[in-house]
Amino acid sequence: MKEEKHNELTKPKRILVLYYSQTGQLTNAVRSMLSPLRNHPNIQIDWRDLQPIKPYPYPWSLLKFLNVFPESVLMIPPEMKPLNFEPDSHYDLVILAYQVWFLSPSLPVTGFLKSLDAKVLKGKPVITMIVCRNMWLCAQEKMKSLLNSLGATLIDNAVLIDQGPPWATFITTPRWLMTGKKEGFWSIFPPAGVSQRDISGAARFGKAILDNLDDLEANPGKPLLSGLGAVKVNQSYIGSEKAGHRAFTLWSRLLRMAGKLGELPRRVMLFVFLIYLVFMILTFVPVGMVVRAILKPFMTTRLKKQVERLEKPSGSSIERMEQYI
Ligand SMILES: Cc1cc2nc3c(=O)[nH]c(=O)nc-3n(C[C@H](O)[C@H](O)[C@H](O)COP(=O)(O)O)c2cc1C
Repeated sequence: MKEEKHNELTKPKRILVLYYSQTGQLTNAVRSMLSPLRNHPNIQIDWRDLQPIKPYPYPWSLLKFLNVFPESVLMIPPEMKPLNFEPDSHYDLVILAYQVWFLSPSLPVTGFLKSLDAKVLKGKPVITMIVCRNMWLCAQEKMKSLLNSLGATLIDNAVLIDQGPPWATFITTPRWLMTGKKEGFWSIFPPAGVSQRDISGAARFGKAILDNLDDLEANPGKPLLSGLGAVKVNQSYIGSEKAGHRAFTLWSRLLRMAGKLGELPRRVMLFVFLIYLVFMILTFVPVGMVVRAILKPFMTTRLKKQVERLEKPSGSSIERMEQYI
């Protein structure tokens, strides 16, 4: 039998992995990422599933899907099952894998970050992994500020997005989430979710983590995943996400004023919101894209700076890719 070769580590390491997934896709992605570290004799990986006391449904009904909108956007945390960390739990690295809900971290992740258990992040280097349709910029900005307020250091961010062009995922992702059907159809729509190739490719991040784990203590805050194409910011989403998030915040406040989950006035408002959403998607979003395309040549420097900032800390360059694939 072939003996497994392991990178030497000067000291045993402990890694905490925090994740929440409904379909299991994100769990597969984070498992793929950590596969190169899994059987290492000197690495202990502590897997913690973030679970709200009242589970969210999957597949979703349209009403339930819309109903979590205001709490997601305003980051009003659900009650979570406690994780009961030891008060002085030591971890060399934390991986926080999350999905995006309405341009914000999903509610179970917000629930964890706003719970007492989140104290475990204090002083720890954190790598975020996002697995979502394609709009994650605002969610990660919110994540950055939460991690900052918890005293954690974000050292990397890796993002996997759904396969296919945005017009296709606009149909395939909600269809999957509301029916459970993942396969492609009509020969123009690809299967929903992230491609198997991208999920398997996440193992390159684990290899780079393994190679650099020993340096973490000496170089706190230094990214481990640079040069591996960990993120790619789509310029044209920056403006849409900002405008969308502003409108989402306003609507969320209105919906909260209309009452709690399940109350009639809130259902009525949700219906009005749905009409607004469809109207916006069919009118303002394409108009906004055309306007931004016209203005693009005059905003190149500004946009470039914004892209650079949003791609931090890992960046989108790919010069180390060959070494790790
Ligand atoms: C309520 C809800 C809202 C979502 N909003 C967004 C979003 O704003 N941006 C995005 O890229 N994906 C969005 N998604 C897709 C998720 O990020 C994720 O890809 C999907 O839920 C599958 O996750 P899972 O396989 O880990 O369960 C949303 C999903 C849900 C359930």
